[in-house]
Amino acid sequence: MKIAVMGGRGFMGARLVGKLAASGHQVGAHGRSTGVDLLTGTGLDAALRGVDVVVNAIDAPSFDEAAKAFFRATTGTLLAGSQAAGVGHLVLLSIVGIDRVPGVAYYQAKLLQEQLLQAGSIPFSIVRATQFMEFIDAILSWTTEGEVVRLPATLLQPIAADDVVDVLTDVATAAPLNGILDVAGPEVIALDELGRRTLQARPDGRRVLTDPAAGLYAVVPREAIIAAPGARLGSTRYGDFLAARGG
Ligand SMILES: NC(=O)c1ccc[n+]([C@@H]2O[C@H](COP(=O)([O-])OP(=O)(O)OC[C@H]3O[C@@H](n4cnc5c(N)ncnc54)[C@H](OP(=O)(O)O)[C@@H]3O)[C@@H](O)[C@H]2O)c1
Repeated sequence: MKIAVMGGRGFMGARLVGKLAASGHQVGAHGRSTGVDLLTGTGLDAALRGVDVVVNAIDAPSFDEAAKAFFRATTGTLLAGSQAAGVGHLVLLSIVGIDRVPGVAYYQAKLLQEQLLQAGSIPFSIVRATQFMEFIDAILSWTTEGEVVRLPATLLQPIAADDVVDVLTDVATAAPLNGILDVAGPEVIALDELGRRTLQARPDGRRVLTDPAAGLYAVVPREAIIAAPGARLGSTRYGDFLAARGG
């Protein structure tokens, strides 16, 4: 199968490209760094020539209101280019629960990205993942002040990137779902507790203070971004992930 991964040099895209190639598929990794810009359409025709499936794993440069214009423009470009190239399946990497969190501009932008894909004429699959385990350190850094990390007790269900890649690979190489599949980690853990476990595994002088008003996740209703029953679950537990990376 010939598969193009948009954002193929990014955190998730690069892992997916590696797995698809190892599985014997002909894979292209695309982004501005390889000459394909989904804001302008530059390089897209050549990237999509003869392609069966496109995976969209790009991300916006910021998490604020500007993300909406970014996803509107890039999705429009990708739909038009895919249509012209005769692509048979568009796969989008999205986020669990974004339709349940009206207060986060970035989630509203991802929802728009999904809606534009659903309204298009190309068969599609939307894979909604929960927060990547590799992303938890960044969440802690957002609300660190000196030695204190303020975190609300919002429930998360973190998943290892490689577990997401396994599902993306299965979905990209199967018939289009024309629907949404949730993928999540095997455990639901409150964010403040996740922070404590992270710092316990790799102490750096910081401690977690539970603060319902701290950071982006403060406006997320407690159970909004955990997966609904029926989701596909990864096998990697957070403790295994921390142990594997050495704390
Ligand atoms: N972080 C999480 O926990 C999480 C959870 C669930 C879902 N997701 C979703 O996963 C997706 C991928 O995330 P990630 O962390 O892998 O992203 P990332 O590492 O930031 O990679 C994003 C990629 O997008 C490409 N890109 C940006 N602007 C572009 C443009 N105008 N045209 C073409 N390519 C462009 C970049 O490549 P160039 O710089 O070469 O253009 C980059 O390789 C995101 O949509 C995110 O919403 C994330």
